[in-house]
Amino acid sequence: MPVSVPVVCIDGPNASGKGAVSRAVAERLGWRRLDSGVLYRALGLAAARRSLAPGETGRLADLAAELDLELRGDRVLLEGRDVTRELATEEAGARASRIAVLAPVRAALLERQRAFRRAPGLVADGRDMGTVVFPDAACKVFLTASPEVRARRRHNQLRHQGMDVSLACLFEAIRERDERDRIRETAPLRPAEGALCLDTTHLGVEETLERVMEHVRTTGRRAPPGGSGKPGGGSHRQTPSGDT
Ligand code: C5P
Repeated sequence: MPVSVPVVCIDGPNASGKGAVSRAVAERLGWRRLDSGVLYRALGLAAARRSLAPGETGRLADLAAELDLELRGDRVLLEGRDVTRELATEEAGARASRIAVLAPVRAALLERQRAFRRAPGLVADGRDMGTVVFPDAACKVFLTASPEVRARRRHNQLRHQGMDVSLACLFEAIRERDERDRIRETAPLRPAEGALCLDTTHLGVEETLERVMEHVRTTGRRAPPGGSGKPGGGSHRQTPSGDT
């Protein structure tokens, strides 16, 4: 993978706004986008289908390496079936975070994520984009927000998708998941060195986006003049070799 391809890394805890912001940044730049959480969520679902427990590290890592996953814009196909809706639940997020603590699983997903780095550029969001997956990226951002605001945002998102979850349960689930992501030994959730840290508790998506775009400009990794790259959509089929 040519390392000259620029990457904007947007990390942060659950519902900190990184999904909406990274999607908008990718659109503005005309770059591809990687929502790395989808890989962990899809792996969690594939593992559940096989009744694999989080303790079966070797089998989970093998499954991660072989995962038949296709990302078609915002749709996710796992083993040929559209699982987008199943992956959007908080249960899928919790399942993902339980297997995301396993170093061999993370290692098995590393190259898949790096395979998204294609010209003209990539906007990648997750927990360890700036620290582990693309440490050489020039532009790194870390978004946070208060737990209450994040729980409310996530609640709204889920309701928007027709899923009714109690706000109190969601608050607790998010708190637990954040804690697990933060204290794990491998690739814990933390800002990368030199990252722009933005607390979005009182910031709307537009304002956050403006500040992130300013950081993209000042870190010197602009889109080619006129944003000449292809839009970030399209299909990205992942075979075990990471080919598309
Ligand atoms: O971002 P999303 O909520 O979809 O991520 C689900 C879970 O996957 C996270 O809570 C985290 O445990 C894991 N994850 C990770 N590293 C990433 C992206 C997600 O560990 N880069």
